[in-house]
Amino acid sequence: MVYFDNAATTPLDPEVIEAMIQVMKNNFGNPSSVHAFGREARVLIEDARKIVALNLNVSPSEIFFTSCGTEAINMVIEGAVNDLGIKHIITSPIEHHAVLHSIEKLAHQGKCKVSFVKIDHSGNFDLTDFENILSLNERSLVCLMHANNEIGTILPLKEVGDICEKHNALFLCDTVQTMGKLRIDATNMKIHFAVCSAHKFHGPKGVGFLYLNGNVKINPLLQGGGQERNMRSGTENIYGIVGLAKAFEVAHRNMDADVEYIKNLKAYFVKKLKEEINGIQFNGESDQKGLHTILNVSFPKTKNAEMLLYNLDIEGIAASGGSACSSGSISESHVLKAIGADLSRTSIRFSFSKFNTKEEIDRCIEVIKKVLL
Ligand SMILES: Cc1ncc(COP(=O)(O)O)c(C=O)c1O
Repeated sequence: MVYFDNAATTPLDPEVIEAMIQVMKNNFGNPSSVHAFGREARVLIEDARKIVALNLNVSPSEIFFTSCGTEAINMVIEGAVNDLGIKHIITSPIEHHAVLHSIEKLAHQGKCKVSFVKIDHSGNFDLTDFENILSLNERSLVCLMHANNEIGTILPLKEVGDICEKHNALFLCDTVQTMGKLRIDATNMKIHFAVCSAHKFHGPKGVGFLYLNGNVKINPLLQGGGQERNMRSGTENIYGIVGLAKAFEVAHRNMDADVEYIKNLKAYFVKKLKEEINGIQFNGESDQKGLHTILNVSFPKTKNAEMLLYNLDIEGIAASGGSACSSGSISESHVLKAIGADLSRTSIRFSFSKFNTKEEIDRCIEVIKKVLL
């Protein structure tokens, strides 16, 4: 079996499994309890917070554990509008639905106006248009993703952070696809809010975090026992938090080598596809400019092209027709539509991790040749 759907989720790293098993066996205490069982659990959580903060160059007091990236994104967008008086949001048509649907809800309630930044055919943001929108509006919340989950296009983070600072805008960067894959210095990049989901970099599902710049105060989404310094009520997912921190630590420890390795895999896949399949095209950036983990391939129209994803699955190769969506169905991609991709062609997202190999790519190319042509 070959797994090329790592943008949807990744297998757990063995070191993460081991760290979580130890906690499952030995630490069941509620971190809010004042006795020794609780105190032990509390120490594990605070150690995890320090590991995350260290790797993001932020203070541990700026990290809040959540159940996933979606929760963190909702918390920020609701908080910016309801608590910080934001009445204008700038985003793009290729954001994840966690961003787009949260904004749509508030706009529908008449609480904010929304502007969409222009993008080009590869999903790159038009920074002149962006700055223009910022200058014409009152204080805005900017919600732009660091790397697109379908086509891998990367935002020039530092430049966008600088522009936001110049216009006194708040900056939420959806870093779900890049946390644990690229180095992010949230302080120097002038991000106010960044989000993370552990299962995207070999950590467990059901846990993520919000980086909330210490100068910004928003209210929690959930009301309850006041955990996470009152920002995220609910008994902490201690196994998940330990797993997240271990995955983050491993990812940062080996990041340069992993990036190089995965970059080479992607370049090899691109080269082989170009050599072996006539009329191959790519959505987004297929070269070194795009995120190393994501390659979105647009296949020529052959009589079997429409069945390609299904036939790859039958041959034991897992890829994706777009982003993983909750119903499991493949619906038309809002991202491909927004960049003006040819929707009459079959597009498949292949996404890689450190566990993939060149041999898997060779096998995939053979299968594609067999079932496409
Ligand atoms: C760019 C991006 N943002 C947000 C999310 C939401 O993450 P989660 O489903 O883990 O909450 C995803 C997940 O695919 C994503 O790729």
